[in-house]
Amino acid sequence: MLQWGLPSNKWAAALTLWGAYSLLRWCWTPLRGIWRHFLRPRRNLTQRYGGTWALVTGGSDGIGEAYSHELAKSGFNIVILSRTLEKMEKVAGDLRRLYNVQVKLVQFDFANFSAPEHVMELHNKLNQISEDVCVVANNAGKAHANPLA
Ligand SMILES: NC(=O)c1ccc[n+]([C@@H]2O[C@H](COP(=O)([O-])OP(=O)(O)OC[C@H]3O[C@@H](n4cnc5c(N)ncnc54)[C@H](OP(=O)(O)O)[C@@H]3O)[C@@H](O)[C@H]2O)c1
Repeated sequence: MLQWGLPSNKWAAALTLWGAYSLLRWCWTPLRGIWRHFLRPRRNLTQRYGGTWALVTGGSDGIGEAYSHELAKSGFNIVILSRTLEKMEKVAGDLRRLYNVQVKLVQFDFANFSAPEHVMELHNKLNQISEDVCVVANNAGKAHANPLA
């Protein structure tokens, strides 16, 4: 007749424990991922960063648009900064409709940002927004046209 329960042999017990430990270790990473990405409640980011406005450069397309959505979903009002007004207005409409947040737009081109007058232009445009921005997702970037070598 089959006997169920802990193995009487010490070696078998040690191997069973080792197997259980290995199985737990193997499951740990995917289980932690499921918890973090699907089950864990969202942090209160507006409380954490002490404000309600977030600025997303390049927030009208691609990764920046996704940042705009995620931050708006977390309760932030959004300042979108990029070059094309129509693209910003479309995303602003989506954010207002989906998350009931305020959205402001800053039209600016980073292409010549090294020139002092462009830095001042950005400074002035951001001052005109006159909101206390507490999160910046600085997503607009540029790549070098030539190989790095
Ligand atoms: N996608 C990837 O696989 C990848 C990989 C590594 C790094 N990145 C980096 O991640 C960032 C976003 O990439 P993405 O793929 O999401 O880009 P994307 O879809 O082309 O979106 C770029 C965003 O930045 C704005 N933008 C572009 N040039 C600008 C300028 N000169 N001044 C101000 N705004 C400007 C665009 O709007 P307007 O055109 O209206 O200005 C748009 O909102 C970039 O910095 C990119 O280098 C992306």
